[in-house]
Amino acid sequence: MSLDRALVAIDRACASGAVVRDVDVREAHSHDESEATPIVPEAVVRARSTEEVSAILAACHAHRIPITPRAGGTGRVGGAVPVAGGLVLSLEGMDTIRGVEADDLRAITQPGVVLRDLHDAVEAEDLFYPPDPNSLESCRIGGNLACNAGGPRAFKYGVTRNWVLGLQVVLADGTVLRVGKPTAKGVTGYDLAGLLVGSEGTLGVITEATLKLVPKPEGVATLLVFLPDQRTLGEAITATLRRRIVPRCLEFLDPLALDILRPQAGLDVPAAAKAMLLVEVDGDQGDLERQMEEVGGVMLDAGALDVLVARSGEERESLWAARREMSYAMRRQARRKLSEDVVVPRTRIGDLLERCSVLSEKHGVRVATYGHAGDGNLHVNFLWDDPADRPKVDAAIRGLMEATVEMEGTLSGEHGIGVLKAPYLPIEQPPALIALQERIKDVFDPRGVLNPGKIFPAGAKRFHGAC
Ligand code: LAC
Ligand code: ZN
Repeated sequence: MSLDRALVAIDRACASGAVVRDVDVREAHSHDESEATPIVPEAVVRARSTEEVSAILAACHAHRIPITPRAGGTGRVGGAVPVAGGLVLSLEGMDTIRGVEADDLRAITQPGVVLRDLHDAVEAEDLFYPPDPNSLESCRIGGNLACNAGGPRAFKYGVTRNWVLGLQVVLADGTVLRVGKPTAKGVTGYDLAGLLVGSEGTLGVITEATLKLVPKPEGVATLLVFLPDQRTLGEAITATLRRRIVPRCLEFLDPLALDILRPQAGLDVPAAAKAMLLVEVDGDQGDLERQMEEVGGVMLDAGALDVLVARSGEERESLWAARREMSYAMRRQARRKLSEDVVVPRTRIGDLLERCSVLSEKHGVRVATYGHAGDGNLHVNFLWDDPADRPKVDAAIRGLMEATVEMEGTLSGEHGIGVLKAPYLPIEQPPALIALQERIKDVFDPRGVLNPGKIFPAGAKRFHGAC
């Protein structure tokens, strides 16, 4: 069988123990952190080097075996689920930070590095790598790159793609290339690093990344702004920006999210609060006070009920620990949850929240929202208990996607399309644009072995459980 022949070739090229066929290991690699239907792979292959990744992909290409790359497996859209069967390529073992080059303001890292370890190594040099999709204890760089992860600090600092200088990548046939530039500037040729980042493991496997760094801000302060209603939100954000202040985070929580956060973070929430904004500013100590005062004043003028300041490291940490838990805590609110990450122009965030309430009522589905309001990027959570309610949930999600696109928004701000959002892609993109991207996929992976069944609706439909 061609699978066996591929595994023999892989076994020969890799360190012993690379190919794992134990059922518990295969099952552990059948899902990510989403509702996507798990699919158990035939085997898990644990790569330790770029050379091994190259040999593994070459064998899969030669024998036409589907292969799904995976780093931390913390994705939210089924991107690491091996929907076409075949193999899962685990990059967890490639977890070395090759160096933090302080004078060149860059870090060189393998894809299996846990984000927290990269942050610690960089901050030990008094430098800063801002992206954190809020799961830094468990997510790994490879997944952050594959999905172009965002997170709360994207408001000031941008998303993962904005921090990538160069990549080493293995193509589907095993070819090893360097794309992008390890320098601060560089415009020679097409921006293939930009294309690879966010391609959800469908165009190549990233085996090393050179990431840009900046000096670590001297101080950080966090403000908790309690709002009487959700309509105040858009005005409060706009007013802050008009004052020429760019907070690093502007995070929104609706009443349910606030109820979840309250006991965990030990918060004193005013009874009338119907929403909260978590605002974080950073900079030099002197400027921090000014920023805090201005933001506080602007928020009160915009109708905030109260503004509290979390100054100490412990206070901030307990707040963020609770915020990081939010998505898991939401999941505990019902037997089933589907979470979206739609984005609209930030001035439409109030309209988006209103549409969420309308959809919730119209379809009779519980909806809770929180997220990166400064980016117009909301996590809209659909919660339900009875499996028979799934069609209502799907209709509500479709309604959300349509409303988002009507507002000039996009389906996904940070989690990617994977399998869960593939059916909705045509709501946002015309057939010619989808076809162009499918042709790009064919150029990179002519045999369609690399993470098949993701992003594009036609591919996703071919595989069991993908749509
Ligand atoms: C968050 C993740 C779920 O913002 O994107 O918590
Ligand atoms: Zn998020």
